[in-house]
Amino acid sequence: MQTEQLFNSFIVFLLFFLVLSRLIISHLDMDDFPELEIALETVNKMQEREEKELRVFPASVDPEVVAACACQHCPPRSTQEPGEYCCASIFTLQPLQKGILLRDGLLRKLKEHGSHPCITLDPLCSNYIMTEAAARSSAEMYSMLTGEPITDVNRSYRYGAYRLFVATSIGHLGKGIRIRLPSCFVHAVRQIWPSSHYRGFNQ
Ligand SMILES: *[C@@H]1O[C@H](CO)[C@@H](O)[C@H](O)[C@H]1NC(C)=O
Ligand SMILES: [Zn+2]
Ligand SMILES: [Zn+2]
Repeated sequence: MQTEQLFNSFIVFLLFFLVLSRLIISHLDMDDFPELEIALETVNKMQEREEKELRVFPASVDPEVVAACACQHCPPRSTQEPGEYCCASIFTLQPLQKGILLRDGLLRKLKEHGSHPCITLDPLCSNYIMTEAAARSSAEMYSMLTGEPITDVNRSYRYGAYRLFVATSIGHLGKGIRIRLPSCFVHAVRQIWPSSHYRGFNQ
């Protein structure tokens, strides 16, 4: 998840660099330099790679079908990113291998599977993963293991909850492997520990 921060910072840096270099170049009266469109194209390519990396369903499955909310707890589609999915999709559609690990893990760990329309209503989430005690201990453990100090408490709790969700359902995901989490879960976590500055990317 840290790589997302890095990715965002890199994009800001890249745009800043290109705008700055344009200014310098135009000052020097040279026009043989990358246009902003090339920068945006690079950013698009990086977003595509990111999207592929996080993917839970194969490209053959219609992303709109995957995103269509059947759990009543996903945020509006207009506020989502292209590859987002409803928690119900993971049980009704055929996911990729990573998604299968997530689905099977949830089937083992959900306490009342089948009695709630959304996983966020299951006690596994509502009484455990999404509680302050759990998110905080996950955040502090992560900080201890990585040496990264906690500077934004709410952000650390959100990531604490995301990591705990993966740890609980899948366990060890593999070094550098990432997975997109269900929209309703991410949305619920953001409601509990809001950020003062949400931007375009997953935070
Ligand atoms: C952090 O989350 C709490 C609720 O858990 C909220 O009251 C507070 O405003 C949030 N802090 C920021 C900076 O948004
Ligand atoms: Zn949903
Ligand atoms: Zn849901």
